[in-house]
Amino acid sequence: MTESSTTVAVLGTGIMGAAMARNLLAAGMQLRVWNRSREKAEPLVEDGATVTESPAEAAEGAGFVLTMLPDAGVIEEVAGGEEGALSTLSGGVWLQMSTVGTEGHERLAALAQERGISYVDAPVLGTKEPAESGQLIVLASGPEEVRERCEPVFDAVGSKTLWLGEAGAGSRLKLVTNNWIVGLLGVLAETISLAEATSVDPARFLEVIEGGPLGLPYAQMKGEMMIQEDFPTSFALELARKDAGLVLDAAEAQNLRLTVAEAVAARFDEAINAGHGEEDMAAVYEAAKPRHG
Ligand SMILES: NC(=O)c1ccc[n+]([C@@H]2O[C@H](COP(=O)([O-])OP(=O)(O)OC[C@H]3O[C@@H](n4cnc5c(N)ncnc54)[C@H](OP(=O)(O)O)[C@@H]3O)[C@@H](O)[C@H]2O)c1
Repeated sequence: MTESSTTVAVLGTGIMGAAMARNLLAAGMQLRVWNRSREKAEPLVEDGATVTESPAEAAEGAGFVLTMLPDAGVIEEVAGGEEGALSTLSGGVWLQMSTVGTEGHERLAALAQERGISYVDAPVLGTKEPAESGQLIVLASGPEEVRERCEPVFDAVGSKTLWLGEAGAGSRLKLVTNNWIVGLLGVLAETISLAEATSVDPARFLEVIEGGPLGLPYAQMKGEMMIQEDFPTSFALELARKDAGLVLDAAEAQNLRLTVAEAVAARFDEAINAGHGEEDMAAVYEAAKPRHG
């Protein structure tokens, strides 16, 4: 491997990007990181990363640019702008691992094509803790000829990589999976709320489903947060709302109506308007909980 093939430029060191960066460093890769608020990237210096002033500086001569940013609009700026990563990435591969939906993917793939950059659409399943422990599931899609090159990067951040076909297949499966998560969260919030409103201890509900076919570990984890009304952020509610919107957009483009997703998106909006957007997505409970008095 040449030096550049082991250099990864991670753009966006939020909850997911910072954790992924640490695992890339632990796997022996050279790491450059860029983050809009530089101070959030600085702690990675202790782990061996170099913090850069611009996305372009991070990407220069790198083997990979890895984007882990909120949405396609932000990524277009960070990758495609004047000081953007694609202005200096030459011969490297762009690993787009944020959740951007189907239309967002198409815009980013078109940008990569315009600049002659190899583009891999590779969103991930898993939240803060799996990201920290390198246990993400990578939903990878992109050109055959770069797949082998990408493996060491994906192996460092995830426990499993699924190659799904041409770029875009990863984002489509990610949306399907997110619809499942969004629906679960909505019905879980209302179930905890119903228990409380009808004088059933909601902990009893979690107990009764635990360990059986109905008892998802996810429900235990998020249900506990709802019962405690304590929402330390693994996945911010405002990003979950963005994902619900991406699901609805993808469905609408196929003339499909998803009424459950619509209802949960409305609940997300209520909780965000009440000031819970930066808390964990489990804070959707705040919009569903019983109103006393
Ligand atoms: N958290 C999860 O469980 C999870 C799981 C799977 C996929 N994802 C997806 O992964 C992506 C990142 O999620 P995350 O949870 O890591 O988010 P996060 O913790 O909120 O981090 C967001 C990152 O984006 C940067 N950013 C926000 N707005 C920006 C702008 N206008 N220009 C430049 N940078 C900007 C932030 O920079 P600052 O530090 O300056 O704010 C930060 O580095 C999202 O697409 C999300 O849907 C998240």
